[in-house]
Amino acid sequence: MRINENTLLEGKNVVLVPYNPEHVPRYHQWMASPDLQKLTASEPLTLEEEYDMQRSWREDNDKCTFIILDKQRWANPCFPEEECMVGDVNIFLTDPSDPSLAELEIMIAETNYRGKGLGKEVTGMMMCYGINKLGIRKFEVKIGLDNKVSIAMFKKFHFYELSVSEVFREVTLGVTVNQALQEHLLVTVDFMQEREYQKLKDCRHGGQPSLPMQAYHC
Ligand SMILES: CC(C)(COP(=O)(O)OP(=O)(O)OC[C@H]1O[C@@H](n2cnc3c(N)ncnc32)[C@H](O)[C@@H]1OP(=O)(O)O)[C@@H](O)C(=O)NCCC(=O)NCCS
Repeated sequence: MRINENTLLEGKNVVLVPYNPEHVPRYHQWMASPDLQKLTASEPLTLEEEYDMQRSWREDNDKCTFIILDKQRWANPCFPEEECMVGDVNIFLTDPSDPSLAELEIMIAETNYRGKGLGKEVTGMMMCYGINKLGIRKFEVKIGLDNKVSIAMFKKFHFYELSVSEVFREVTLGVTVNQALQEHLLVTVDFMQEREYQKLKDCRHGGQPSLPMQAYHC
């Protein structure tokens, strides 16, 4: 989707930025991990195929992707953006006849960043963006039956079980956007701010801090 190509979503500990070609090599490295392939039900791609995938995520109208960056690190212009990457989050519009239905995917690829609240923060931010910018009214997520962490996390956002496939060893959870969910999101992601990605990126390239944060030490 092109709607988010100049969008930066600022959270408490993360910033979400559009998936660009410069992110592909690191992303490709992540997806070489058998663990991540299993947890995300993904097939390994060649670097070339990964660049094609990045292009299709940018151009196809049914996919919206953000790369998750470590906010503190990104605020420091000494770190190249690729070195601030932590994971990714996607929305797929799975039903051409119903653009209000979305499948959600999230990956905190860097293992040392897991279990610190980032998954919850990013999921809330992406749901908020999906509801407010893309008009999503129902989210679904497919998770491996053994992925207890992910199942527990989505249940915190009111997702409940829709179906289980023993063949694929996968559960589908879903949630309809209602007042209770919106109130929950309002409280959990009240810190989220939308900014212009390119403008902040230009500050970094000029060696300027891109977010108003504490002192920077290279
Ligand atoms: C699943 C994933 C996104 C969760 O993100 P995270 O940053 O590790 O999780 P958080 O720290 O935000 O915790 C969110 C919830 O997950 C559960 N959780 C987190 N770590 C856990 C652990 N070690 N054991 C059990 N539950 C755990 C808790 O319910 C937690 O909520 P709480 O802190 O309010 O109790 C992340 O672990 C990940 O990307 N894993 C690999 C890829 C993947 O499995 N993606 C999901 C497929 S859709």
